[in-house]
Amino acid sequence: MDSTAVARSHWSSRWAFVLVTAGSAIGLGNIWKFPYMTGTNGGSAFVLVYLLCIAFIGVPLLMAETMLGRRGQANPVGSMRRVVAEAGAHPGWIAIGFIGILGALMILSFYSVVAGWILDYAMRSFSGFAGLTKAEAGAAFAALLADPLRLIGWHTVFMILTALVVASGVTSGIERANKIMMPALFAIIVALIVYGIFAADMAAAVRFMFHFDFGAVRREVVLSAMGHAFFTLSLGMGAIMAYGSYLDRGTSIMRTAFYVALADTGIALMAGLAIFAIVFAQGLEPASGPGLILQTLPLAFAQMPGGAVVGPLFFILVIFAAWTSSISLMEPFAAFLIERFGLSRRAAVGGMGLVAWLLGIAVALSFNEWSGFKILGLGIFDLLDTLTTKIMMPLAGLLIALFVGWVMRRHHVAEEMGLSVAQLGIWLNVLRFGSPLAIGLIFLHVVGVIG
Ligand code: TRP
Repeated sequence: MDSTAVARSHWSSRWAFVLVTAGSAIGLGNIWKFPYMTGTNGGSAFVLVYLLCIAFIGVPLLMAETMLGRRGQANPVGSMRRVVAEAGAHPGWIAIGFIGILGALMILSFYSVVAGWILDYAMRSFSGFAGLTKAEAGAAFAALLADPLRLIGWHTVFMILTALVVASGVTSGIERANKIMMPALFAIIVALIVYGIFAADMAAAVRFMFHFDFGAVRREVVLSAMGHAFFTLSLGMGAIMAYGSYLDRGTSIMRTAFYVALADTGIALMAGLAIFAIVFAQGLEPASGPGLILQTLPLAFAQMPGGAVVGPLFFILVIFAAWTSSISLMEPFAAFLIERFGLSRRAAVGGMGLVAWLLGIAVALSFNEWSGFKILGLGIFDLLDTLTTKIMMPLAGLLIALFVGWVMRRHHVAEEMGLSVAQLGIWLNVLRFGSPLAIGLIFLHVVGVIG
């Protein structure tokens, strides 16, 4: 497990790191999950709490997790082992690494199934959605969920795509794909916003998302928003730590974290606006749940000029966004298997991919054949989502904040971060008091201990 035994690849530049980390952060979470969660959680109340969580919990933790990876120079478990030893701390802290790689595997399993939905729609979009009605759009999504073979087929395709990239190594493939696809994704979302302004109801979308009404902030909304802040920034699940371990010394972790959070939040807000403009213009239901973008966007593509081109382009770009994220979900566990057990990269990816694929089959079946099967009242898809997003990520985040804030030696942290004394002090105090307090209060709030 000595890192000197394995030459570690490093990103080609700091911009490459910003790009791949933004590639990890920007994914289905922004384009699929954020809009539908905003819809089911009442709009602006959710957006407000989400923005606060990104700024006050997300960014400081993004910095902390990147720092742990770069300090550790290994997979999440190996990195934690090293920083824990360096701090002379209790080995129990290494659990942060294990929660991460396990959580990433769990997320990958349902992420791949949802990415499969997008693949299905991408294929369909080539023949255009012309003449599609509201009722048909809803029925088409229901029919997809009811068809286990189609779900499993596309899930399999997506898992293979992910495995191929991770198997071929860290740097050039991922970097190049990101460099082309991320700007293109941005352009398409801008196009959708323009469509929303001129052909749909952008004013209603703005009202729905930004008319802040504190009274509407309910218990569930708060935990959902915090969980989503973790999810969208890829926090707590080893992905950022793994990517940080490929980062060169001398890059400002604070600056890169800002850029990544800014890009991620910007894309989510834009996607939300574009989608709700269509939802309101079409008289659709904002709270319709995980099928939201698949029931709304095809309607827009059916009507907008050039929709037959923009439609396929959009779905393909969503696939790329999902792909650059799923890569980051596979890398942490794969790197662990490579560095801990000396597996070849191919074998590690194959093993990890196989387990996630099998779990994904259970997810796919939970929409149809196994829809009656519930644990704690949740189907397999909801269970994995809830367990990871609302429990494991905040827990890992809490532990990371406590570890960096209280346990690591201050001069090690300072050496890694390269911040001014004042900046370092503020950030460390956020990690020591702010983040644990916020995460703790939110947990208690939801459990119902405090009002
Ligand atoms: N952030 C990605 C999204 O919004 C999903 C993701 C990628 C992720 N890697 C992660 C989530 C690691 C949690 C942990 O789509």
